[in-house]
Amino acid sequence: MTSKSCYTVAMKLPLLSTSKSLQGKRVFLRVDWNVPLDAGFDAVDSLKLSRSIATVNMLKERGAIVLIATHLGRPQGRDLKLSTKRLLTLLSLGHGLEVGHLPYALDAERGLSRVSSIVSNALPGTVFLLENVRFNKGEEKNDKKLAKAYASLADLYVNDAFASAHRSHASVVGVASLLPHFAGQNLSDEVKALEKLIEKPKKPFVAFIGGAKITTKIEVIQSLLQIADHVCIGGAMAHAFFVAQKREIGKSFVEKEGVVVAKTLLKNKKIHLPVDVTVTKKIEDGAIARVVPVSGVLKSEMIGDIGPKTMQDWSELIAQAKTVVWNGPMGVAEIPVFSHGSLVIGRAIAARSKGKTYGVVGGGDTLPIAIATGMSEWFDYLSTGGGAMLEFIAAKGKLPGLVCLLK
Ligand code: ADP
Ligand code: 3PG
Ligand code: MG
Repeated sequence: MTSKSCYTVAMKLPLLSTSKSLQGKRVFLRVDWNVPLDAGFDAVDSLKLSRSIATVNMLKERGAIVLIATHLGRPQGRDLKLSTKRLLTLLSLGHGLEVGHLPYALDAERGLSRVSSIVSNALPGTVFLLENVRFNKGEEKNDKKLAKAYASLADLYVNDAFASAHRSHASVVGVASLLPHFAGQNLSDEVKALEKLIEKPKKPFVAFIGGAKITTKIEVIQSLLQIADHVCIGGAMAHAFFVAQKREIGKSFVEKEGVVVAKTLLKNKKIHLPVDVTVTKKIEDGAIARVVPVSGVLKSEMIGDIGPKTMQDWSELIAQAKTVVWNGPMGVAEIPVFSHGSLVIGRAIAARSKGKTYGVVGGGDTLPIAIATGMSEWFDYLSTGGGAMLEFIAAKGKLPGLVCLLK
């Protein structure tokens, strides 16, 4: 695959053919059900669940024995607070999916043979949920022995976990090479939707990147500068640029390492920075805010959001655009008074999407705002991938979890 041919990834992803019999076949299905468990349950979390539950139901209806594997959080060892057992009520009450929970360690002989015998005796259409794959030693190192253990349990491998496709882990990459492997519908849909951003996107192409830290998104900004016409930088990310311009940002959050990076990008004409900002003495609930031009921030103040002139300028860019991608809040959107920038930009994108403009949104902290716009169904695509969506753009589609499915 040459770097130009990334567009073909979705087309080449092997999908399970509808004519293939799955009756009694054991399927190792990797999903990404890494959803926040303590934040209560809302529509945002359910996107990751509902999209892959469709795949589970399809496999079940076709008579497969489904072994669902997911990670949950970033556990250090077997941290039972992050057991997949915690998903059971959510799956059952929230989505009507009943699964048998298999809390056994697959990195140990005893656990593996226990699961193996349960699965071998299961009836077609049975669905099991394995324990958090990150409890297994070697999962994150793509350990061969662990990948073999996973493969020994199944006849087929299906990956429906787009949000994990940037991880070279045993349940994402290692096991794929050991079994006949396929892409789930959710994975394939995500790739198809995001490929439109990297292969011949319709122009003008406007990108919005916000959030806290520029160093975590620098590669994607650099990639976007090659394919987009305008890259608008909001959120605390813009503060690094302001410091590079020797502007006063008062007590605003700024990532120090980001200033050096921002300096290298200052001269790029495609970069747009806020022209005005919303400031306050302290970013907290109930904060009193005022709007100032970027030159008007006082030493005692903090920037919490982009200002109304910036919202207007950037909405005009959106109105001209044919392609728009948005990742990262434009301000501290968790606090209502600083959520306007993100809501306005989100609504402007939604209003142009599904027709005149191709509008895509993604990111763990961005999806809740996209939903809060009340217009979430107007976007062309909501990606469940945070890091995966950004790395997909930066790596022009070549994520380890996708590349291994093409072999
Ligand atoms: P995503 O998960 O969508 O990629 P990020 O994790 O990069 O987004 O950024 C989200 C964080 O950025 C939020 O916690 C938000 O409060 C923070 N943020 C945005 N603007 C500012 C700001 N002006 N000052 C401080 N934090 C900000
Ligand atoms: C995500 O939430 O972005 C994915 O589930 C990946 O999680 P990770 O960053 O812990 O690998
Ligand atoms: Mg985040």
